[in-house]
Formats: sequence, C-alpha cells, structure tokens
Amino acid sequence: MIILGIETTCDETGVGIVRDGSEIVANVVASSASMHEKFGGIVPEVAAREQIKVIIPAIEEALHFVQGKHFKIDAIAVANGPGLIGSLLIGVETAKVLAITWNKPLIAVNHLVAHVYANWVGENVKRPEFPLIALVVSGGHTDLILISSHNRYQWLGGTLDDAAGEAFDKVARVLGLGYPGGPEIERAAQQLTPDNLQSTFDFPRPMINEKNFDFSFSGLKTSVVNRVGQMSNVSGQVSKIAYEFQNAVVDVLVRKTIRAAGKYSVKSIVVGGGVAANSQLKNQMTAAGEELGLRIFFPPKNLSVDNGAMIASAAFYKKKTADPLKLSANAGLYF
Ligand code: KG4
Ligand code: ZN
Repeated sequence: MIILGIETTCDETGVGIVRDGSEIVANVVASSASMHEKFGGIVPEVAAREQIKVIIPAIEEALHFVQGKHFKIDAIAVANGPGLIGSLLIGVETAKVLAITWNKPLIAVNHLVAHVYANWVGENVKRPEFPLIALVVSGGHTDLILISSHNRYQWLGGTLDDAAGEAFDKVARVLGLGYPGGPEIERAAQQLTPDNLQSTFDFPRPMINEKNFDFSFSGLKTSVVNRVGQMSNVSGQVSKIAYEFQNAVVDVLVRKTIRAAGKYSVKSIVVGGGVAANSQLKNQMTAAGEELGLRIFFPPKNLSVDNGAMIASAAFYKKKTADPLKLSANAGLYF
C-alpha cells in the first residue's frame, strides 16, 4: 500500500510517499526556519504564508518520484494536529481536495504519534517491540507515552511549561546562536575540549527525582538566562554553557524515560521529534536503556524533524479513514 503523507503543522512543508509504512519512495521537505531566524522563534503568520507557497510544488516534486514506476498512490494522509492553526489548515485542506479529486481514502494522523512512527520508516531496520515507552521531544512537546500495540496509547506525562526543544531554542537565543537552537547548542557543546568538561555552573535538573512523568524546563532556562546576565564575557563561555545546559536537559529526559520503562516493564524505548536528533540524548539514552536489556530506537536525523514520510508511516498503521468533507485541522489535538 502506497501512502502520500502531508505534514504542515509548523514551519516545515513535508510531502512523503511511503510503501507499506516503511519504504521511502519520496520525502520532500521545505522549511521556512531561516525566515524566523531573526526573531529567534517561529512567526505563525509567516509560517502559514510559506506553507501556501510551497505545498503544491512540494507535492509535485514528490510525485516525480512515482512517475514511470509501476505503482500508484493508494491513500492520502495528513497531520491534522497539534500545531499552528494557520499552517495546519494548508495541509489539511490540500489533503481533502486530493482525496476527493483522486477518489482516494483520507487518513488523519496525530503529528505527535507520527514522530513515534518515524522509527518504523526505513527498509531492513529492526522494528520496535511492544509494549514500549515513547518519548516525544520537539519544539512544542515533551511527552512520555506507553504504547501497548499499534493505536493503543496511554499518556503518562508531559511538560508543565516549556518543551525541551523550546528550551534549546531560547537558550540558544540568549547565547547569540542561531535558530533552530537545538543543533546550534549541540555544535557549540561539541567545541569543548576534554579538559574543560567538568561542571562549573551546576544548572538545575527540574523534577528529575519526582515519581511522576511530568517535566519542567522553564526554571532551567531562567537559570541559564540569569547566569548569562551576570557574566561580563559571555562569548568566551558559550560552549561551556551550551554543554552544561544540554547535559541538564538530557539527564532529566533519560532518567524519567528509563524510570517509565522500568515501571511498565516494556521491551523498547522509542524516541521521536526534533530533539531526538541530539547525539548526547541518543548516546546517553542508549547506554542507560541497554544496561537494562531494552532496545532503544532513534530515527535518523532527517526523520527526527518534521517530515511527510512519518505521516505516511503512521497512517499505514492507523488505517482508519476520515471523511474528506468533514475533517478539520485541530491545533490542540492530543493523545
Ligand atoms: O519536531 P520538530 O521538527 O518540530 C516540532 O514539532 O516542534 O522539532 C523542532 C525542535 C526545535 O526546538 C529544535 O531546536 C529541536 O527540535 N532540535 C534539536 C536538535 N535538532 C532539532 N534539539 C536538540 N538537539 C538537536 N540536534
Ligand atoms: Zn514535530
């Protein structure tokens, strides 16, 4: 079964074509991130306008990969939430029109669930085993979910304030680094020399010892902002601050995910969302999980950030179809 998946929840326009939930035929991603750089965060109005401009060219480009091949698109999938309403509308309305004019089934996918399914994309890769704990860490979300089989989710907890990716973006901004901040912080942290790795700032690790599965990153962010405000020479300390901030976020994410995995006796841990592209998170989670005999899954970097292939993969496992005359964008969609 070949599904065309559309992703327009935020500042990326993604169109993926995926066979049987795993084999990528096409995965086209256009991003307006550079247009938001000078604001240090996304401007929803600008993001929505860019979505309108690039959605049709992105679909056409993806369809080029199908031309001359012996298969056709069997269904249309779209992320109908959560996200920015202006951006979401473009993808949802486009998908509805395609489903009606091509007379194909339409499948509506939760964007957060799709981040988890990025781990099912790719040929000849091992698949996560159920039950599993999924950690979704993106610019807008930090959630821990217990998934007992395809389509059976139990939300365990999430952030009470800033999402992990949002904290990366804000700290990058006070350090004078670019947007999106995650990759910039990671790059700055990697500049540190081995003799400079000892902790000097002792940034807090909020809620790390609490038994619940909630997170809070705004206090950590404020702590970094305050320390930077007290410094006379910030530029000489950027790598060190980035390194210690990243360690604090990763410590909390790993500790809480591992605790959830232990409590629910799962077989795998699956991580998804833009922050899953972080190597420190991947290394630390993998080491901690394997020590407990768990299998740990991170998508390749291009599938960690928003893309259409993950939408098509999630749709393959969801199967339930939506009425193209009734489907609407839902900015606040949850599990
Ligand atoms: O999933 P995503 O592309 O969009 C949302 O659904 O929000 O996630 C974007 C977030 C941004 O906050 C970005 O700074 C963060 O993912 N991110 C990273 C890395 N790459 C992207 N955070 C930490 N380390 C990275 N390498
Ligand atoms: Zn996302």
